Parts: sequence; C-alpha cells; structure tokens
Amino acid sequence: MKLKKITLLSGDGIGPEVSKEGEKLLTVIETQFDYKFEIIKKDFGGVAIDKYGIPLPEDTLNNCKKSDAVLLAAIGGTKYDNLPREKRPESGLLGLRSGLNAFSNLRPVMLFDPLLDSSTLKKEVLQGTDLIVIRELTGGLYFGKPKGIETRNGEKVGFNTMIYSESEIKRIAKVAFEIARKRKKKVTSVDKANVLDVSQLWRDVVIEVSKDYKDVNLEHLYIDNAAMQLIKNPKQFDVILAENLFGDILSDEGAMLTGSIGMLPSASMGDGSLPSIYEPVHGSAPDIAGKNLANPIAMILSIAMMFKYSFNDERIYDLILKSVKTILNEGYRTKDIYQDGCKSAGTIEMGDLICNKIAALSNQYV
Ligand code: IPM
Ligand code: MG
Repeated sequence: MKLKKITLLSGDGIGPEVSKEGEKLLTVIETQFDYKFEIIKKDFGGVAIDKYGIPLPEDTLNNCKKSDAVLLAAIGGTKYDNLPREKRPESGLLGLRSGLNAFSNLRPVMLFDPLLDSSTLKKEVLQGTDLIVIRELTGGLYFGKPKGIETRNGEKVGFNTMIYSESEIKRIAKVAFEIARKRKKKVTSVDKANVLDVSQLWRDVVIEVSKDYKDVNLEHLYIDNAAMQLIKNPKQFDVILAENLFGDILSDEGAMLTGSIGMLPSASMGDGSLPSIYEPVHGSAPDIAGKNLANPIAMILSIAMMFKYSFNDERIYDLILKSVKTILNEGYRTKDIYQDGCKSAGTIEMGDLICNKIAALSNQYV
C-alpha cells in the first residue's frame, strides 16, 4: 500500500469546486489501485486573508513542507486588489513557490484532437502541436531586488530588477535539457539578449549547459519573436525554456492553442528535497464561481502530473490522460470548450464522467 500525504489548497473562486473533482478522482484511484491518500486541507490565498489577514499562514506552509505533494486549485479575487502587495493572494503564491524552492515550472501545452476547433487558431496550424514551457519560477523580475515605488526628483518612480545568477540559470536549463531528452530533443531558449544584459548571461549559461547535452538541439529566440512564432507555427516547438515573466506570458499564450485555459495543468518543483506543487494554470474565475460552470480538466490533469513526477507512476498518468481524451471524444464539454452538437457538462458532471471512465479503464493499467 502506498500512503501519500497531499496538502490541498482549494483557495478562492472556482478553486473549491475544481478541488472537489480532484478529490473525487483521488478516491477513484484509491478504490482501483494500491494507494491511500491522506488529504490535509489548508487555508491559502483569499480565504486565508479573510481569516488571518495574510495569504500564506505559517501553518499552511509548514504542512505543505511535510507532505508528499501539494495540490493547489486557484487563488485571488477582486476584493483583494487594493490591499498592500505583500498581503495580496498573489504574494502568497510567490511565497509558497519560494518556500518550497519550486524553481522549475512545467507547463505542458497538450492538445486534444476533439478540441482542435475550440481554439481561435486554424486547425491546420494546431494539429500535431505538443510542447512544454519550462518556466523559471523563483527568480527574475518577480523576485529581484531592488524593487519598489519611491519619490525621486519630485515624482514617483517604480522599479523591479530582472536578476539571475549563473547557478539559477544552470539548474533550470538542466531541467529543460533533461525533459527534452525524453521528448523530441529540442530546446528553444527564450531571452532578450539583444537588449538585456541579464538575457546575455542567460544565453551564455544555457549554451554552456548544452555542451553536456549534445543529443539535444538548442536554438535561441528573442521573446518577441517567440511570442509570434508560437502563434504562427506552434509545431516547431518541443521544450521552451524561459525566465519567470517571459514564461508566464508564453504559457498563457500556449494555453490559448488548446482552446481554453481551463485545460492546462502545471507542476512546480525544486531539487527533490521538498514537495512539488501541482496547479491548474487558470485563475480563480470569480465570475463563474459556484455555478457548476468551471472546467475541472486542468485540475484533473494536474493530478495526473502529480502521479508522474511526485509518485513516479506513469501508469496512472497515462490512465488519467486516456480517460480525459475518451470523454472529450465522446463529445462532452464544459462551457469554456463547448461547441454546437456537443453534450454539455457542468463541473460536477465532467468530474463524474472522467472518474467513471477511469474506473472503467483501470483494469487495463494494473
Ligand atoms: C501564473 C499566474 C501567477 C504568476 C500570478 C497569479 C501571480 O499568472 O501562475 O501564471 O504570475 O506566476
Ligand atoms: Mg500567469
């Protein structure tokens, strides 16, 4: 029996709804396979601000550190927008990422054939796209110092610092090359080396690291060109390696290739000494919260990634992916990916359909 301790941070908006579907999925895995999950629920984000005045209470972070994996749904809401920055939900998220030393963020852009018509891009452009964005997550502009707003010469100035050390670049580049080795063996490193010094160092270090990965092709693109190429011809990419902010932007753009940000999972991990975080790429979507409209697939695929990367169980990863694909093939859609002629499903129905499919297919995966 494999006992796994999972800290669940349901957060805000649609977070609790998609978390319920995630819990349902874990229960199905328990009944079909040799797993037992201890799920510890903790306050994080807006809910924690409401209760304790801060987005990431110490007790929450400590529990995350003691678990085998952290499952995070979504945080944030307009009611917190006017709080001082360090008290906002987003600061809690940055605190969690750095607290767990989760410097490497894996954001696979998985395209499911039945959804090719849901994207705003042409089917011919999309078909065959299979890429992953490796985003550096604990450095760069998000964390660099100095930062702030202050008065200089009688007017306010605002500033942040994009700063990377060689070792920070090296460790994330290695992750990208290792992943590329198991895929199509191509890394596209994104920077702005024609303008930014920090990008020049990024490029130099990535080239240095590439010498240990002669079997992997390395190319460099400036961020503006990369954004354009991702829309023009997404099939050219395999692994996209980017610093924190560039990766943030490119991964939202990548999400749109799949038709909906409600489809995209992510994993954030460090050097293995602390648990990884699994999280849908979407936000808390307060406008649709509590209406049974949210797409639970990003959450479900994030749990699939948890099995692959934290529990080293590709079998269950494959089973979950296959179940999602089958349900989409059968024509079921949540509102965000709905098209004429499809069968509409709410959050709960979509969760049930996928869970039932997992149960039905699981004997092929024991
Ligand atoms: C993401 C989000 C976060 C980020 C926000 C909510 C702080 O956009 O995970 O992509 O910028 O990293
Ligand atoms: Mg983002």
